[in-house]
Amino acid sequence: MKDKRPTWTSKYSFIITTIGSAVGLGNIWRFPYVMGQNGGAIFLAVYILIISTICFIPLINELYIGKLTKKECIGAYESINKNFKYLGALNPITGLLIASFYFIVGGWIINYIIKSFINYKIQNYEEYFTEFIKNPIYPCILTILFLFICIFFTARGLKKGIETANKSFMPLLAVILIFLVIVSLNLPNAHLGLEYMFKPDFTKLNSHMVLNALGQAFFTLSIGMGALLTYGSYIKEDKTLVKSVYTIILSDTIFAILAGIMIFPAVFSFNMEPNSGAGLVFVTLPKIFSQIQYGNIVSGAFFILLFCAAITSGISILEGPCASLIEKFNISRTKACFILFLFISIIAIPATLSFGILENIQFFHKSIFDFLDFLTSNIMLPVNTLFLCLISGWYLKIRGDILIKNKIGAFLFNIGLKYIVPISLILLIIIGLH
Ligand code: PFF
Repeated sequence: MKDKRPTWTSKYSFIITTIGSAVGLGNIWRFPYVMGQNGGAIFLAVYILIISTICFIPLINELYIGKLTKKECIGAYESINKNFKYLGALNPITGLLIASFYFIVGGWIINYIIKSFINYKIQNYEEYFTEFIKNPIYPCILTILFLFICIFFTARGLKKGIETANKSFMPLLAVILIFLVIVSLNLPNAHLGLEYMFKPDFTKLNSHMVLNALGQAFFTLSIGMGALLTYGSYIKEDKTLVKSVYTIILSDTIFAILAGIMIFPAVFSFNMEPNSGAGLVFVTLPKIFSQIQYGNIVSGAFFILLFCAAITSGISILEGPCASLIEKFNISRTKACFILFLFISIIAIPATLSFGILENIQFFHKSIFDFLDFLTSNIMLPVNTLFLCLISGWYLKIRGDILIKNKIGAFLFNIGLKYIVPISLILLIIIGLH
């Protein structure tokens, strides 16, 4: 192997980078609109319950398998059983496919940052957004630019690139988020947004919403594509993995809730719809920014916040496939990054064009972008997690007491790993296929 296997410089570096992976577009773009479409406060309650219980198990499991095997995904599965290597390979493949659509949104964010500072008032926000994503050139250039920025940090290695990026972007993200929460809470009628977020309407509780909360929780914690397994493999010693995992879950949830507190009071203050879907961030919010004082600064701050969140997650998406290339093909990190850059560009460009000139190319009645999102979020992420839980619970027979000192906790972990999580994942996959 050309590059010696890296390890984290400190426990703080590990935790902040894993939080950086978790806190991403999933928290700030996806969480508020999924919550908006699923009834607000009741969704939040179910989500918190799920993320603090069921999700704990696959999250610690993935990190632990990495820490145990000290290998990238394919090698890690292979070291458990030679035949499992193909299951392991599904992880970096999922990463490459996620990268191909995640980075497109990264490109849109760059456009909105530029737009916030130059000529930010637009006549018709819906039309502007649809025309922009249809453009055959500009979004492609921005997607490649966003990919290039993430690859740049990945290529510099764990300490100089990945840790440095997370240690710089995450505190910036937190500061901007708090600033925007304060701005939003000071808007007229902000309390309506808070009521929407925190006053549950139990009539909206249904099984579909519970599964949406489960899917959102897995996606936001970055479970199921080997990013965590790879990050886990860089741990030297961590006797308190349980504590680290709870810190990660708690931080991710706080970021998601703050994102909601930043968005919903503003949405209600301007009488807009909270359930407008994916356009919430790119259409509804810019409309709101244009109506408030110093709107361009607020808009710029918001899109820089999204940019920070997307970069740190983007870097983690790349690290799994990057480590696999380095260790499986015995090549340098720079070479691996170059290959990743070419490969992701080849898939991301048609996906970017699927909003415009390639909109007629469909897979299962979905555009290339929607298909990649559907295939990875609804199928590949849960399938990978299902395999890893089955391998740990039934093949390796990992027992909770190795990780958890408390007897009841260890017992619940065993049941969760062998039964509850696999069954929930199977349900998620079945519903996801509909
Ligand atoms: N957790 C990221 C988010 O919430 O945006 C998305 C993500 C990153 C998913 C890394 C999967 C992954 F491996």
